[in-house]
Amino acid sequence: MSVHPPLSPFNFFQECFAKAKSLKILQVDAMVLISATPEGKPSGRMVLLKGINPERGFRFYTNYDSRKSAELGANPQAQLLFYWAELGRQIRVEGSVERTAAADSDAYFASRGRASRIGAIASLQSRPLGSSEELRAKVEKITKELEGREVIRPENWGGFELVAERFEFWEDRADRLHERVTYDRDANGKWITGRLWP
Ligand SMILES: Cc1cc2nc3c(=O)[nH]c(=O)nc-3n(C[C@H](O)[C@H](O)[C@H](O)COP(=O)(O)O)c2cc1C
Repeated sequence: MSVHPPLSPFNFFQECFAKAKSLKILQVDAMVLISATPEGKPSGRMVLLKGINPERGFRFYTNYDSRKSAELGANPQAQLLFYWAELGRQIRVEGSVERTAAADSDAYFASRGRASRIGAIASLQSRPLGSSEELRAKVEKITKELEGREVIRPENWGGFELVAERFEFWEDRADRLHERVTYDRDANGKWITGRLWP
């Protein structure tokens, strides 16, 4: 990126992502999702990138009753963070989060294996759990109940899309002279690039 960064941060992201994939980096699609309460108390966790909506946003799927979903519901401002050590790159994507359409969540849920779908139904994600036996028993119970039936998406599980408003690409360089390139949208929605001191 040293001379001219690509015009679109989405193209730049895809370029980096493809390179990271070609290096066979483990869980190249893992990203930190940072949310915050309306009072500004932050929380971060890993989620998997499950789709890119070109020139718009980044998708992930989760339980809509989880801590992250409660925070995103009350305050849609969020950030995604990628780091691929083998590539010497960190990418930040900032924006606001929206739930994806029910049809999108249905399609993604249907693409998962049966056990993973049952796991998603069984989990009261982020709520206190007495013991791991309790979880196993719930999975067994649901597995039996759904025997011979289709496992469809529960309403409290689905996708979010972070609609990108700002990107920062960081590239590792010798002697701490790292490169940092930013992208912000102007009033017409056109991407404007800038640089930051490392
Ligand atoms: C590599 C990795 C990928 C993960 N991917 C997801 C994911 O795509 N969706 C999800 O709900 N949780 C995922 N998790 C679990 C979350 O990090 C987290 O524990 C869970 O979503 C509950 O977060 P919350 O209580 O902040 O809502 C992943 C964890 C790891 C370590």
